[in-house]
Amino acid sequence: MEVHQRYGGVVPELASREHVRAIVPVVREALRQADTRLEDLTAIAVTQGPGLVGSLLVGLTYAKALSFAKGIPLIGVHHLEGHIEAALIGVELAYPALALVVSGGHTHLFECTGQGEYRLEGKTRDDAAGEAYDKVSKLLGLGYPGGPVIDALAARGNPRAVRFTSPKLKGNLSDFSFSGLKTAVLRWTEKRRERGDFDARTDSETIDMLASFQNTVIEELLRRAQAAADRIGAKALVVSGGVAANRGLRAAVAKRQWGIPVYFPEPRWSTDNGVMIALAGTRRWMRGQVSGLDLKAQANLPLAR
Ligand code: KG4
Ligand code: ZN
Repeated sequence: MEVHQRYGGVVPELASREHVRAIVPVVREALRQADTRLEDLTAIAVTQGPGLVGSLLVGLTYAKALSFAKGIPLIGVHHLEGHIEAALIGVELAYPALALVVSGGHTHLFECTGQGEYRLEGKTRDDAAGEAYDKVSKLLGLGYPGGPVIDALAARGNPRAVRFTSPKLKGNLSDFSFSGLKTAVLRWTEKRRERGDFDARTDSETIDMLASFQNTVIEELLRRAQAAADRIGAKALVVSGGVAANRGLRAAVAKRQWGIPVYFPEPRWSTDNGVMIALAGTRRWMRGQVSGLDLKAQANLPLAR
């Protein structure tokens, strides 16, 4: 994070270099905290994609080496399956279920039709919701990642102070769009700057605008998720991905009448983590779905067939 904060976002080359540097100590520390040894592991789960290919390759190569050296199975996991499974610890999911995955790279709705089976219901046509948070944060000098800081500031503002219009999208009713909202925030910020310098962390107008921005994102996510859930006759809703850590989103979900169970991961397992990959890998392993050593990293790996 410190490396990325300097540039206001993830620089792919730096990310893979940091992965190389961190992977051995991180695995050692994880084993230490779990009071486990490599010898005790039954299988190795690893993210196959999607993501930055340089970073994926570091993890994949390391996992393959471990799998080969210890003679234990390798299990390739889709990043988004990890996010979804993180919400389902101890849960017997009823199908079909709707999964709303909101992160820095994805804003997707999937219909979960069975264990490990997904159908793409809708997705963002431009920016992901988390990306909108990060861009707005950068614009206002609030640092990276933008989600947590905007979440905290938004809690203090008036969500109805600034009216942002929701996008009119033709075609798929389950698609999202956040680039218009980002541009609207840019325009608002330019206007605000014309009246003089301000500190986004303390300026009450900016805090109100951020509350309105967050409210618009949440309303958009939930409106489309609810319509999609009705359309597919969902028996459960799963909300996951980095943006699912958002306190405003959690509160708004709790306030709505869904008529079906709604599952979130614990906040610490909403943003990227290894636990979610281990969980998804365990479920795959239990279904006998292991990978070969020819497993390839895929930057654009789709979740749904
Ligand atoms: O899933 P994740 O950790 O990484 C990706 O797969 O992208 O999601 C990261 C994204 C970032 O855009 C970050 O700003 C956003 O999740 N995020 C949040 C919050 N915490 C993280 N967005 C809104 N509110 C939060 N509390
Ligand atoms: Zn993620």
